[in-house]
Amino acid sequence: MSGPNTSFDPKQVVALNDAEVEAMVAQAMGAIEQAADLEALKAARLAHAGDRSPLALANREIGALPPAAKADAGRRVGQARARVQQALVERQAVLEIARDASVLALEAVDVTMPTDRTSSGARHPLTTLMDRIADVFVAMGYEVAEGPEAEAEWVNFDALNVPADHPARSMQDTFFVESPESGVVLRTQTSPIQIRALLARPLPVYVIAPGRVYRTDELDATHTPVFHQVEGLAVDRDITMADLKGTLDHFAAVMFGPGIVTRLRPSYFPFTEPSAELDVQCFVCRGASVGDPANPCRTCGSEGWIEWGGCGMVNPKVLTAAGIDTSSYRGFAFGMGIERTLMIRSGVTDMRDIVEGDVRFTRAYGMES
Ligand code: DAH
Repeated sequence: MSGPNTSFDPKQVVALNDAEVEAMVAQAMGAIEQAADLEALKAARLAHAGDRSPLALANREIGALPPAAKADAGRRVGQARARVQQALVERQAVLEIARDASVLALEAVDVTMPTDRTSSGARHPLTTLMDRIADVFVAMGYEVAEGPEAEAEWVNFDALNVPADHPARSMQDTFFVESPESGVVLRTQTSPIQIRALLARPLPVYVIAPGRVYRTDELDATHTPVFHQVEGLAVDRDITMADLKGTLDHFAAVMFGPGIVTRLRPSYFPFTEPSAELDVQCFVCRGASVGDPANPCRTCGSEGWIEWGGCGMVNPKVLTAAGIDTSSYRGFAFGMGIERTLMIRSGVTDMRDIVEGDVRFTRAYGMES
């Protein structure tokens, strides 16, 4: 039996000789140095430090060496692998920094660059105004009422005491749906909502009804075939004209400023008796421009007063048409144009600006909801 082969020289095992190990390290170092990005470094790591890399394979050879040679070979290969490992770690750090810098550069946002903004819309001031008006009356206990825009001729006219031969019927130039015989019109006013509210609700009735109305007018600076009105109606046991006046004073104050003075001028509407035109004192000059040519007022044309709407005590014929006992109940009603209210409030001089829906006009009223 022979003794251990103490003369075995590990340098003779090709994979473990000095020059060979150095060559493996040099190759690994070259590949690591040349890796231009983290992907390339990953490939270099696999090739030169992975399980099948030359150094790993050399490492496996050590196991077959006689004990005396193991330590020396182990140290040599171990140190070689450690150098490669170290080079990998260092290169990894350098490439990560480079990657982060390029990501930052790529994703940089120049906040000073001009952009195309997506412009936001705005609510139409008519909508805002109608909502505001409804709120004023809801706060006083009114309900918001509605009716159809294609309305029965009877409701739009007859029930409101405007019979077929009444001149008021032709005063409001009417769009007929289908034919004049159809009995259906595009409502010329919000007053038919009075009839619908009285027919549909138990007494007492307090309603406010903003809505769209139609007349066969050409669009110009002061007319539009489609416009908006707001109708108010209160029917109760002890309603008087003083209630009407007080209600309108409050409404005017909210629309045109606290303390604004209102005036009722005798007038005629078929559905009210007595009837009145409602004027508000000019909220700009408060009447001071009247008779003072040196200080003209554009808002009221130096009239001192601005015509705002119509009103009166509900004609008993209207209450009767809605089946209401006029010996116990009476009421007041009023109606005004929303476009007109907007024009007065905001100094709009051309109706077409309101109708056209150009956002440059609308936006001036802000985003108020
Ligand atoms: N409906 C009328 C119009 O369009 C306005 C009006 C006047 C309504 C007097 C009323 C009222 O309720 O009492 O000209």
